[in-house]
Amino acid sequence: MMYKACLFDLDGVLVDTAIYHFQAWKNLGKQFGYELTEEQNEQLKGVSRVESLNKILDWANYTATQEEKSVWLIEKNEDYLRLISSMNPSEILPGVLSFLEQIKALGYKIALGSASKNAEIILDKTGLTPWFDLIIDGNKVSKSKPDPEVFLKGAEGLGIAPEECIVFEDAQAGVEAAKAGNMKAIGIGESETLFLADKIIPNFIGVKAAELLQF
Ligand code: G6P
Ligand code: MG
Repeated sequence: MMYKACLFDLDGVLVDTAIYHFQAWKNLGKQFGYELTEEQNEQLKGVSRVESLNKILDWANYTATQEEKSVWLIEKNEDYLRLISSMNPSEILPGVLSFLEQIKALGYKIALGSASKNAEIILDKTGLTPWFDLIIDGNKVSKSKPDPEVFLKGAEGLGIAPEECIVFEDAQAGVEAAKAGNMKAIGIGESETLFLADKIIPNFIGVKAAELLQF
């Protein structure tokens, strides 16, 4: 089987914005007296902004009005935008640029498949934009991971069959989305959360693309 495209999640795969999301959600939780834990934050990875808020409110056992929810979604995002405002190329995760260079040289198409509505800002701030043939972000999809929509749109936009795509994901929901879309999934992180992936690597440091992309 010859694979033709690599589809990348953004947060936690190419850059570590998960720490900023965590900080912003933690700050928000304090407004209704809730302290978000790291294990819970793990479950928010890959999950859209609205759904993340719903989960947190659920954990906090807080029934919010529609009005409160809209205000909090704006506040969380303003806080998050402030936290990412000084992001720069040094925040690209180790090994990522070398890996992108390798797959480009090997002829793979490269797309982004992120739930984030702030993906373009982050790609621009870190200088990653030119690597991508296509960007599918939270503004272009209606269904959140684990629904495969974001990756299927990526494959479709590149004109490549889902079976010929390899997805890189740090979130359980993202790995599920890739598998639901009939794609190969490479998990970036720990096997406890990413066990559904076809392969798992801790990060991109020293990774030889030609070997990793053999299935
Ligand atoms: C990514 C992150 C999630 C985040 C989601 C929406 O999937 O892993 O933690 O909630 O994007 O991000 P946004 O920037 O649109 O709030
Ligand atoms: Mg992620």
